[in-house]
Amino acid sequence: MQKRIRVNQLRVGMFVAEVEATDRQDVGSFKPFLVSSNLQVEKMMARHVLTVIIDLSKGADVAPATSSSQHDARAAFNEQILSHYSKRDIRQARQCIEDTRPLIRHILADARLNASFANEAASSAVERIMSAAFDNAGALVAVAKLKEKDELTFLHSLAVSALMITFGRSLGHEEEDVRQFGLGGLVHDLGKMALPDSILTKPGKLTSEEMALVRAHPQRGYDMVSQAAQVPRQVLEICRYHHEKFDGSGYPDRLAGKLIPYAGRLAAICDVYEALTTIRPYKRAFSQAEAIKMMMNFPGHFDSSLLSAFISKMVISGTLH
Ligand SMILES: [Fe+2]
Repeated sequence: MQKRIRVNQLRVGMFVAEVEATDRQDVGSFKPFLVSSNLQVEKMMARHVLTVIIDLSKGADVAPATSSSQHDARAAFNEQILSHYSKRDIRQARQCIEDTRPLIRHILADARLNASFANEAASSAVERIMSAAFDNAGALVAVAKLKEKDELTFLHSLAVSALMITFGRSLGHEEEDVRQFGLGGLVHDLGKMALPDSILTKPGKLTSEEMALVRAHPQRGYDMVSQAAQVPRQVLEICRYHHEKFDGSGYPDRLAGKLIPYAGRLAAICDVYEALTTIRPYKRAFSQAEAIKMMMNFPGHFDSSLLSAFISKMVISGTLH
């Protein structure tokens, strides 16, 4: 049996069958091996590996989780957010999540069942997130970090939207642009709703056909969203270009540098940061420091001047914890 784990869960005694970089991309030549030293784990991180597939028939599994360890992890997380944000901020963030939950669920279900885009529900959700993010962005992103399996897509969409809104504001953009960034963040992965669950949750390595389907999600999302009337250009650009990389090695169009629309370059940073720092039961997230270090070390992935701005305006400033 194979299992996908994050590279920071890798321990001596596990058998690595496959390695994957961001978004399940291949990372060049690789031979399966048994982990015999921590140095090998460090080398994998230096090669920008994010997740690995371990083979449980040839090596150790991750330590089994217990209900008390789950409880401890949640308690530690709650303590951590309480120490950074006021009770009022956390209460307001939770209220925003409750208020937007039916709207975002509706958007996701409409994409999955009808391959269409619920434009009005998305606009209402973004207005709500924009008002919550005014004085409460860090708490909103923090509260959305802790994800159960069935909440994963909903909370990832909401958190990327809140990050895009806050990052856009910190860069001095007009509120109309900020609204478009927020809307784009909310619907950036809508094309994934067309993928079968068997691919999205597959524990082993994807076949090349499955990988091609996953890589089609930006175009698929773009097609869905562009069917709706009067969708702003930057929203479409975020759907289509959030997996392009600055060095031209991304997808779907392999655009490079500033040929990648600006909103797509912003979304790439917010999407990866959110995915790395997400907390799930039994699955340790990367810490903020680890996530930033990894993102700085992904050569050619991001627009480096925008990444520097993200680090100074969102992280060093203390907006996010
Ligand atoms: Fe995506």
